[in-house]
Amino acid sequence: MDNINGMDIDLRVRLGELRLRNPVMTASGTFGYAREFSQLVNLHRLGAIVVKGISLKPRPGNPPPRVVETACGMLNAIGLENVGVQGFLERKMEFLRGVNSRVIVNILGDSAAEYGALAGKLTGIEGIDALEVNISCPNVKKGGVAFGTDPAMATEVTRTVKGQTDLPVIVKLSPNVTDITVMARAVEDAGADAVSLINTLIGMAIDVGSRRPKLANVIGGLSGPAIKPVALRMVWQVARAVSIPVIGIGGIATAEDALEFLLAGATAIEVGTANFYQPRAAESIIDGLRAYLAAQGEDSVRAIIGALQIDEA
Ligand SMILES: Cc1cc2nc3c(=O)[nH]c(=O)nc-3n(C[C@H](O)[C@H](O)[C@H](O)COP(=O)(O)O)c2cc1C
Repeated sequence: MDNINGMDIDLRVRLGELRLRNPVMTASGTFGYAREFSQLVNLHRLGAIVVKGISLKPRPGNPPPRVVETACGMLNAIGLENVGVQGFLERKMEFLRGVNSRVIVNILGDSAAEYGALAGKLTGIEGIDALEVNISCPNVKKGGVAFGTDPAMATEVTRTVKGQTDLPVIVKLSPNVTDITVMARAVEDAGADAVSLINTLIGMAIDVGSRRPKLANVIGGLSGPAIKPVALRMVWQVARAVSIPVIGIGGIATAEDALEFLLAGATAIEVGTANFYQPRAAESIIDGLRAYLAAQGEDSVRAIIGALQIDEA
């Protein structure tokens, strides 16, 4: 609790069993393994840190160019480069254990069995507080269709992960579907403790001089302020469709952005692309939330979650 102008402001939120000191988290893939930001950000102030997606084996990722700037956003085709679960536990966890914030490990796999094996290996490890399951990955057994675009496949991954861990499981939804509420309900029914959304939207960019795609992978994931209205709409829809907590992600760079997501029904938010151009974005969002709550005469952030007012037609 903090005291602003004589008023105690409570920023604590709960994602099922997972208790956060404030609702501001950093998004997977945009904050490394946290150490990379330790000179720029006070890591101990964050609600939670979500680390780069981890797979069973290390992955080299895609060839360059892997990142392109777009209007109000960026396209990336990093290809899920990471150190692998063993490398993560041996080389990254020691630093993370010393950080006084929740640590959430984002996991990715080629099959439901791989997700399950990862969940098992990451359970019972001191300093890991929850798992975030990235289902925007291709299922190699189903010809590369992303798990997150098929309710049956998303259900299978969620059930398998839940069967291997007693950690809170957050399932991270893909926006590249017709109706995201169908996916949210499927993973809720399969036992997810919370959902986070959105992952990147699939896009592309072409260099007209060379007539070649700007990304070596041709297509990539669009993120940043450009996607915020789409993400906000999806968070609002999902928050009305499920009863588990929702974490909002997509183009959040300021306290006002974060507040929009909380009002739309998100219990917490993740800051992604903004970390690249404004590394202190998450910290200034925490300060801005407090200032807003004080100005609105609210003593708890929980009072504004889902507090959007809509006139009846
Ligand atoms: C360079 C980059 C790498 C990312 N890597 C991951 C990842 O490993 N796992 C994952 O679930 N999401 C990953 N994401 C998606 C982000 O966590 C986030 O969902 C998305 O970028 C939308 O939020 P933003 O607009 O605030 O960046 C990545 C995004 C970027 C830009």
